[in-house]
Amino acid sequence: MLDIEAVRRDFPILEKGVIYLDNAASSLTPEQVVLKEMEFYREYRANVERGVHRFSQRASEEYEEAHDEVARFIGAPGRRNLAMVRNTTEAINLVANSLEWEKGDKIVTTVIEHHSNYITWLRVVQRHGCMVEAIRSNVEGIFDMTDFERAIDDRTRLVAVTHVSNVLGCIQPVTEIASIAHEHGALILVDGAQGVPHIKTDVIKMGVDFLAFSGHKMLGPTGSGGLYIDEGQLDSTEPLCIGGGTIHDVSLGSYELAVPPQKFEAGTPAIAQVIGLGEACRYLDRVGMDEVKRWDERLVKKLAEGLSEIDGVEIYGPSDPSQRVGLVSFNVRDMNPHDVALSLDEEYDIAVRSGHHCALPLMMELFDMPEGNARASTYLYNTPEEIDVLLGAVETIAKG
Ligand SMILES: Cc1ncc(COP(=O)(O)O)c(C=O)c1O
Repeated sequence: MLDIEAVRRDFPILEKGVIYLDNAASSLTPEQVVLKEMEFYREYRANVERGVHRFSQRASEEYEEAHDEVARFIGAPGRRNLAMVRNTTEAINLVANSLEWEKGDKIVTTVIEHHSNYITWLRVVQRHGCMVEAIRSNVEGIFDMTDFERAIDDRTRLVAVTHVSNVLGCIQPVTEIASIAHEHGALILVDGAQGVPHIKTDVIKMGVDFLAFSGHKMLGPTGSGGLYIDEGQLDSTEPLCIGGGTIHDVSLGSYELAVPPQKFEAGTPAIAQVIGLGEACRYLDRVGMDEVKRWDERLVKKLAEGLSEIDGVEIYGPSDPSQRVGLVSFNVRDMNPHDVALSLDEEYDIAVRSGHHCALPLMMELFDMPEGNARASTYLYNTPEEIDVLLGAVETIAKG
C-alpha cells in the first residue's frame, strides 16, 4: 500500500497550497532528489571522466552509478544501452539523425503522437525523400491492430509510436506493435515520455529497439532524460554530437569513437541532473512501480468518472479506465480551455495544463479542436481529496 502521507512529506512544495495536476507536463521533485543534486554541488563538484583528483573520481562514480540505476529501472541490460540526454525530444532526434535513411524508406507512426515524435519524422521525409504513414485511432485513442499489420511492410524502416498518449491517456500495445515491426525487418522506437513515469517498464519484454523518456516527468531534474538503445543497434547508432568525452582515440586525420554510452554524451554532461535522475529512480523503486500504478488508477478512475458526471463537461480518452493512465483531458461547454485553466489556478489554486498539448495532428484529425482542451494529470503524491476539490471547482465553472 502506498503511504500517501509519507510520500507527501517528501514533497515540501506541496505545502505551497497548490493542487498540482500538471504532472504530464512535468512532475514535482522529492527532497531526496533535490538533496542528491545539492550534494554534488556542495561535496564533490567537478567534471566527470576527466580528472584523477578525488572530486572528479567521486563525480564520475556517482554519474556512472546513476546510469546503472536508470538502466535497471527500465529493464535495460546495462549502462551501455542507455544514452543520457536532455529529454524525450532529444532522444527521438538522436535516432532520426542517426539512421542512414534511403529514399523511399517508410516511417509508420500515428496521429496521436506528440510533436516531438511526429515533426521529427516529417523532417526526415523532407531531407531524405522518405515517406510517413500516420495510422488513425478511434476517438478514444484505441487502434485497430490490423491497421498496423497493413501499414508496416517491407519498405518500413522505422515504427515510431507513443506508449501512452499525453492527451488521451490511452495505453498502446507496444509489444504487439514491436513484433509486427520486426516481422518486416523494421525498427521500433517507443516514446516513453508518459509511459515510463507510470508503468513498470521492461524494454526487453517490450521488444523495442529504442525507448525515449524524460527525467523531469518522473520526479527527476529538468534537463535529464534517456534513450535506451537495444544491443543490436548500439554500434550503428550515431551520436547527435561528437567531441570531448566521446572519443577513444584521435589523430590529426582520424578519430575512433568511445564505447557506448560515452560515445553519445559529448561535452560536459548534465552531471547533477543525471545523478538526480538516478536518485529519482531509486525513489520510485522504493515506493514500487506497482503501487504507483495502482494509486494512479484509483485517482484517474475517480477523475474520469467525476468529470463525466458534470453537466456541460466532455472528457476525452478511453471509456475503459484500465486502458487509461495518468490523465484526463476535458472541455467545459463552449469555454476556451485556457480560461478554464486560468480560473482553476486563480480561483481554486489548482494547476492543470490547457491547449493543444503539442499534439495538433490529434486535435485536428480526431476532434477538429484547434483550441485543444484542459488536462488534469496525476502522480503518486496526489490524493482523492484533491480530485474532489477539482471536481467541485469544475462543476462551479461549468455552471457559469
Ligand atoms: C508523449 C510525449 N512525448 C514527448 C514529449 C516531449 O518531452 P520533452 O519535452 O521532455 O522532450 C512529451 C512531453 O510532454 C510527451 O508527453
